[in-house]
Amino acid sequence: MEIQFASKEYSKTIKDGSVTYQSPSNIALVKYWGKYGEQLPQNPSISFTLSNCHTVTTLHYKKTDNANENVTFEVFLDQKLAPDFKPKISAFFNRIEPYVPFIKAYEFCIETSNSFPHSSGIASSASGMSALSLCIMDMERQLYSEMSDDYFRQKASFLSRLGSGSACRSIEGPLVVWGKHAEIENSDLLFGTLYPYEIHPNFTRYQDTILLVDKGEKQVSSTVGHGLMHGHDYAKTRFLQAQKNLSTLIDVFKSGDTDQFIKIVESEALTLHAMMMTSHPYFILMKPNTLEIINRIWAYRENTGSHVCFTLDAGANVHVLYPEHEKEAIHEFINSQLSKFCQNGQYIDDHVGYGAKKV
Ligand code: PMV
Repeated sequence: MEIQFASKEYSKTIKDGSVTYQSPSNIALVKYWGKYGEQLPQNPSISFTLSNCHTVTTLHYKKTDNANENVTFEVFLDQKLAPDFKPKISAFFNRIEPYVPFIKAYEFCIETSNSFPHSSGIASSASGMSALSLCIMDMERQLYSEMSDDYFRQKASFLSRLGSGSACRSIEGPLVVWGKHAEIENSDLLFGTLYPYEIHPNFTRYQDTILLVDKGEKQVSSTVGHGLMHGHDYAKTRFLQAQKNLSTLIDVFKSGDTDQFIKIVESEALTLHAMMMTSHPYFILMKPNTLEIINRIWAYRENTGSHVCFTLDAGANVHVLYPEHEKEAIHEFINSQLSKFCQNGQYIDDHVGYGAKKV
């Protein structure tokens, strides 16, 4: 039990109501891959918060007369009953219940929708779990007479983490750190914190176009992937490398050095996939088109001096990252050279965002 987030005596009661939050997805620059205990990261990570890729969740609540053994709820995706979502949300409620015990005294109806297609291969867990956690924290804030904004944000991130590790980085923006790093004040294992140092304007308006290479179900879930870092031959070195890469990024964010940024970010993406390829069992989530796109990005950079680069999450899709002033040229490059490697030519234009908001 993390005492700092344990529930106190509630000073008020609420009967029924509803609350809506919009929460974004995020893309890690230094990757979280490997966990221990209750969703604690083996290394610190940092991500750009996104903007256009988001989930909007409304939580309807109604007090029941008797506290239930399990939290009772229904879930709707795009206005349609979505029983497939129930097991994951039910596990989430069980995990957070010790910290928000009031949830047992309510019946919930969760209405959720994503700005991106559900089957796009873009993980909705970060935006979805953070949106739901914020709704629950909004209820808790009503039950207390006083709750500081810091506590609200930290506990929302803490609860999100218990739903899906990387979700804890979706509450704020533009850059969020999760996990302990000696040089980053206030960095914490339990929740994400806003990156506290200087950020060069190059990075506060960074663009991310997500190329949808493969929209199918992942062959290996990230939960299984994280598990395979236990006893992995390269685990120890990898976790240290992430610490070092994050140290380097502190200087990069300050100076605006995009060349150095590219080196770290692309290496992190390939290292993440290298860990998958060297675990036991080993697996490959990239597709031939993922590699085609990477090679085209490298060739384009070589030929034009552009500062475009790529990163990957645990899947085949490619996040194309570039400074805002290159937007026009990169859109042209994507349309003429990269979109043909996407399923049905689909991609999503996004950019750095500033976190979740109440709707
Ligand atoms: O939050 P999870 O358990 O789905 O793990 C996500 C891991 C990566 O997306 C691959 C990296 C990261 O830091 O987001």
